[in-house]
Amino acid sequence: MQNFKLNREIAHLAVLQRIELCGPNLKRLRKLFGRYFFSVFLSKYFINLDLISQNYYNLMYKEFLLIKNYINESDKVLSIGSGIGGLEVLINQKLNNHITFIEKNYVSKKVKYGWDKENKEAYNNLNLLKEFLLYNGIKKESFNLFDFDKKKFPHTKFDVIISLYSLDYHYEFNLYKDYLFRVMNPKSVLIFDTIRPEFFNSVFKKVEIIKQDLDTIHKSKRIACKDFRN
Ligand SMILES: C[S@@+](CC[C@H](N)C(=O)[O-])C[C@H]1O[C@@H](n2cnc3c(N)ncnc32)[C@H](O)[C@@H]1O
Repeated sequence: MQNFKLNREIAHLAVLQRIELCGPNLKRLRKLFGRYFFSVFLSKYFINLDLISQNYYNLMYKEFLLIKNYINESDKVLSIGSGIGGLEVLINQKLNNHITFIEKNYVSKKVKYGWDKENKEAYNNLNLLKEFLLYNGIKKESFNLFDFDKKKFPHTKFDVIISLYSLDYHYEFNLYKDYLFRVMNPKSVLIFDTIRPEFFNSVFKKVEIIKQDLDTIHKSKRIACKDFRN
């Protein structure tokens, strides 16, 4: 049985990023005490670290199996909104890729899930993200981190760009559209979750649905896109 190494602060972020990691009891307490108390207290102190670590590993391993066929060894990978980076640890471990992260560096006090028109919500801390990556075996020369709000992104081409439950799931694709146009070449693949997969046929020449979440409120689909239309 494999799992990730994490401490309470990192596990706290993982729970905010992936609400399915907290069990039914915690969900009931969230309803009872409200989102603020849940975000700052319950999701940090009312969790079982070993269980979160195991469940987070299993969840990320499933995600890895789903997308691994789109990544070749030593491809350059960009992750937008990675969360604490469990999927990226697995990609680096198994395929030896360099990974660039763009994330936000703050945690909303009252985490709201859903469409975030102004993109104000965030649930990450770049120091904790770095700690998690190093703690779980990624070498420091194999990744770099960019704070979204500093607006200084790398201008290199990426082979694979991943944004699970982040881009066009919580906030508008347009926020990154021009940037993605610059850093993708026709063979690069962009993988993300959206409720409007058909729309992306007008943005990319190739759009493939690789996963459907039809039993969730959002009913999103995961798509793999290639080759921007001009
Ligand atoms: C629901 S979590 C998903 C985390 C991870 N991808 C996963 O699948 O477990 C969404 C993540 O997007 C991040 N985020 C929000 N706005 C962002 C932006 N403009 N750029 C990059 N990341 C962003 C949040 O901080 C959060 O970590």
